[in-house]
Amino acid sequence: MAFEIEVQAPSNIAFLKYWGKSDPLTQWPAGNSLSMTLKHAKTVTKASLSDTDKIFFEGIISSDRKIFQALDLLREQTGLKSRITIDTRNTFPKSCGIASSASGMAALSIASLACWTGSRSFEELEKKGFSKTKISHLARLCSGSAGRSLFGGYVEWLKGDTSEQQIIAPKFSADHWPLSNLILIVSNKEKEISSTQAHAAAWSSPLFRPRLAVLQERQSAMLDAIKEKNLEKLGPLLETEALEMHSIIMTASPSVSYLSEETLELVSWIRCERQKGSFKAWFTIDAGPNIHLISEPKDLPNLQASLSKAFPNLTMFQDEVGTGPQIRAL
Ligand code: PMV
Repeated sequence: MAFEIEVQAPSNIAFLKYWGKSDPLTQWPAGNSLSMTLKHAKTVTKASLSDTDKIFFEGIISSDRKIFQALDLLREQTGLKSRITIDTRNTFPKSCGIASSASGMAALSIASLACWTGSRSFEELEKKGFSKTKISHLARLCSGSAGRSLFGGYVEWLKGDTSEQQIIAPKFSADHWPLSNLILIVSNKEKEISSTQAHAAAWSSPLFRPRLAVLQERQSAMLDAIKEKNLEKLGPLLETEALEMHSIIMTASPSVSYLSEETLELVSWIRCERQKGSFKAWFTIDAGPNIHLISEPKDLPNLQASLSKAFPNLTMFQDEVGTGPQIRAL
């Protein structure tokens, strides 16, 4: 029977945001980033060799240019040449607006390399010269944040002094601190400006260079908070970080706003309720309008009940820290 592989790769939510690039060609970020790998928001990708590249999304043939370009890039970087059939789906609904590029490009990179090298596990891939670290750097070339999805727990991406010195590595395991991430789905509209364009515009914001100057300090404070499992210390850093990234996006040229009225309403409500002592949860937001609420699992029932009462029509997706990608031979 023909060799077929299935990969499950998780999405991740950035605590310290990757925003802006020092060099778009080598995907060299302007600053370090730090994320929590998710458990339930995943891309499941099957791959098998074929005569031409074929992509299926949820069983339907797809002409998504980004995927074809990523396959070409992976072949160019590795010297592997075979064509491939990819069949991919997300465990979260497409319409829910959760960014799928991190999990999607991580799954695509792992699945195609496993298929091209006939590997059934990460151990076999490593023996053929493709360690998780190596794959994470290939995945980040397809989409920056995808590099961090190769590992479980809390993952750092360090920019290094040159593009070649970048490091992507897990810093704390998932069982060190099992945090929850309740995703509040605000909108599923297509972005008016893609995150690639917005990344490029970051340098035009007057707030971007001051951000780079404080990033290291914020990163150390976040790492200390995670080490100490101190949410009251981590939470305010998460909110500053998300609001700073969105301030940069809004003050760049072109100026874009990924936040909707509903996002801002939820942000005010969360802060007000937290101040009243209703729950201990802090938000972060990626390049879109959805809110990711970070809390301890014990606070989750109370948090969900308060949100459902105040916003009866709100769609939520419950996630938590996860252990990273998996490979299965079919
Ligand atoms: O991976 P990209 O190029 O789509 O950039 C994503 C950047 C953020 O999600 C907003 C932040 C991050 O670090 O993941």
